[in-house]
Amino acid sequence: MKKLYYGMVGGGPGSFIGDAHRRSISIDGQAELVAGCFSRTPEKCREKGAELGLDPERCYGSFEEMAKAEAGKLDFVVVVTPNVSHYPVCKAFLQAGVNVACDKPLCLTVPEAEELVALAKEKDLLFLVTYTYTGHVTAKHVRDYIRAGKLGKIRTVMAEYPQGWLAYEGEWGGKQGEWRCDPAQSGGVNCLGDLGTHVENMVSMMTGLKIKRVLAKMDKLVPGRVLDDNDVILVEYEGGAVGSYWTSQVAIGRDNDLAVRIYGENGSIEWKQTECEKVLMVSRDGTLTERHRGNGGIEPGAAKYGRLPSGHNEGWLEAMGNLYASFAECIRAKKDGTFKPEMIDFQTVEDGAEGVKFVHACLKSNENGSVWVEL
Ligand SMILES: NC(=O)c1ccc[n+]([C@@H]2O[C@H](COP(=O)([O-])OP(=O)(O)OC[C@H]3O[C@@H](n4cnc5c(N)ncnc54)[C@H](O)[C@@H]3O)[C@@H](O)[C@H]2O)c1
Repeated sequence: MKKLYYGMVGGGPGSFIGDAHRRSISIDGQAELVAGCFSRTPEKCREKGAELGLDPERCYGSFEEMAKAEAGKLDFVVVVTPNVSHYPVCKAFLQAGVNVACDKPLCLTVPEAEELVALAKEKDLLFLVTYTYTGHVTAKHVRDYIRAGKLGKIRTVMAEYPQGWLAYEGEWGGKQGEWRCDPAQSGGVNCLGDLGTHVENMVSMMTGLKIKRVLAKMDKLVPGRVLDDNDVILVEYEGGAVGSYWTSQVAIGRDNDLAVRIYGENGSIEWKQTECEKVLMVSRDGTLTERHRGNGGIEPGAAKYGRLPSGHNEGWLEAMGNLYASFAECIRAKKDGTFKPEMIDFQTVEDGAEGVKFVHACLKSNENGSVWVEL
């Protein structure tokens, strides 16, 4: 197998998610990092490049310079900068003809999102949005179980993503919290953009439900916060199902507790990121079934992503690795002319755009006194 080559924008010294992407991509050894613009500060970029063993000639002072110089040399680029720069960076690489993997949220505004969708289509490029949790084998199992009609028509969904790391007055969560809480760098939304997009996307991926309208109450509960740190959203989906989402950064004691409970006419299903190796299902007669990754009973399209026997735990890095496994497979297939759209088993730029639309509908609802807003 010939390796794919990739570059990275963001992920410099002291950053968080860039390193997780590098580790996840390396799990299957399919792609090698060969170029980067890891920071806006050229010295920090070179420092990171040297640490990662990169050719200094391929460590760039700006993403614009990198996109020009690396056009035709990269199979894909990974964008892991703060939200404000996702749009210009993705646009530059799409225009250079490079497939893109960008972290969520896709970008700041709906017109930006629509432009990225159109550009990826026009250039016929693949675009992965790394909603990490959707890569879990058990999350894919929920999706396939529901797609097979085993839950029947879905009636209601309860989903939440509470964290507690920004609960403290006068503390801004270091480098990562500072840009998230700064309107100029996060697009006028904090908690809902950071966590709400995960909830919206996970429910959409698992259920296939399309949101019709939302009613949002977005609060700033910690004194001194200028952006939301706790959000409650009511949702109505096309087809009559209803939902309720809660995201919070002030829930002391909660870490990354993304959880989704889905209630259909034939039973219910419950998935939790903190116990991501299993999924709990309840049938119409009340029988509880706990399915574990690595054992029989996991839907085959999901089970194939497992790498280890049950009991040898897989987690968040493997989930991200699963997104990259499908992304790499699609890139290879494009290169050898065997690609078919149904091979895509990752969240795309269209899914990312739905997240941006969701955030803006919630912002509008909240600004107008928590009224219903159509998507
Ligand atoms: N998928 C997930 O579960 C998940 C988890 C955490 C963060 N994220 C997303 O990842 C992104 C990065 O978050 P983070 O917590 O790693 O942030 P961070 O602040 O830790 O890292 C950002 C990095 O980007 C660099 N950077 C900023 N602007 C740049 C530019 N113009 N060119 C090159 N480098 C630049 C910074 O120097 C830094 O190294 C955000 O969009 C966030 O929403 C996703």
